[in-house]
Amino acid sequence: MKTILTGDRPTGALHLGHYVGSIIQRLKYQNDHKLYVIVADTQVLNNDTAKGKNVNSNIVEVMKDYISCGLDPTKVTFFQQSKILELFELYTYFTNIVSLSSILRIPTIKAEKEMYGSSNMGFLNYPISQAADIVMFGTDIVPVGIDQVPVVEFTNDLIQKFNHLYSVIMFKNVVPELSSCPKLVGIDGNTKMSKSLGNAILLSDNETIVKKKVRSMYTDSGHLRISDPGKIEGNVVFSFLDIFHDSTEELKELKEHYSRGGLGDSTIKSILEQKINNVLEPIRCKRNTLSNDDMLDILATGTNKCKQIASDKMQEVRSVIFG
Ligand code: TRP
Repeated sequence: MKTILTGDRPTGALHLGHYVGSIIQRLKYQNDHKLYVIVADTQVLNNDTAKGKNVNSNIVEVMKDYISCGLDPTKVTFFQQSKILELFELYTYFTNIVSLSSILRIPTIKAEKEMYGSSNMGFLNYPISQAADIVMFGTDIVPVGIDQVPVVEFTNDLIQKFNHLYSVIMFKNVVPELSSCPKLVGIDGNTKMSKSLGNAILLSDNETIVKKKVRSMYTDSGHLRISDPGKIEGNVVFSFLDIFHDSTEELKELKEHYSRGGLGDSTIKSILEQKINNVLEPIRCKRNTLSNDDMLDILATGTNKCKQIASDKMQEVRSVIFG
């Protein structure tokens, strides 16, 4: 059984992009792997120091999202990054064996630095902090999006350096596992669904909101009358249907019909609405049964378990470093 570690920054409620991109995969992992999920609250501060204000409520929302999607706390260990001080101790030791230039060479860091226009030290050091999160619990596999692969490779370079420097095998290499899940576009057609871009359908959105959001999607600006032939390529509704339609055969027919004309935008939107609601309805129902306190209890239980593991690991690490 392999150990898998993954997680999210609690910057707000999760959306359909998270669901198809990572949660579905976690639901599979939880059955036959040891799965850790980090709620990376400290990392939130890297990009926006002020966001610290909402972190506590976001943590509860994210936990509700996880549990309502079916992640099972008897199988998954959820933990809160800021509560495990050993992670920051390990991070501090790691900073001494990393050069600034090696961080600046990570393409993801370069790109994010430009995007956020931010380069505080917490941000520049986040690959080091993430390496500590990953190796502390004996992780074998980190499921990642393509942009995070270099960050996981950086983790491997770092632990090889550590092991070499102290002539030990303290940490093992990790494998970045690319998600086979599709990337979901935003409701505005932007390549990425993101809450901060305001183009997301949240897992907690009710039917009325889903309807409104689906209705707002672009289709084909040349498709003026129902009888006009319509384009599939670049049509946001079809991008979503590709992911949420459960019958390839029916979807193929829909596309053919739309392309030759005679299928209205409101019809394809109603179908999409239905498909999305089929996914979201059980999640909404489960969510209604979850209390804030229960979410915090689940997180505290996992965090305590992780604290113990981290405390044992750090005893080994300290004895290797300080003799
Ligand atoms: N960087 C991740 C995110 O932005 C969160 C995270 C922190 C993480 N530490 C991690 C993910 C370790 C995987 C492994 O969502």
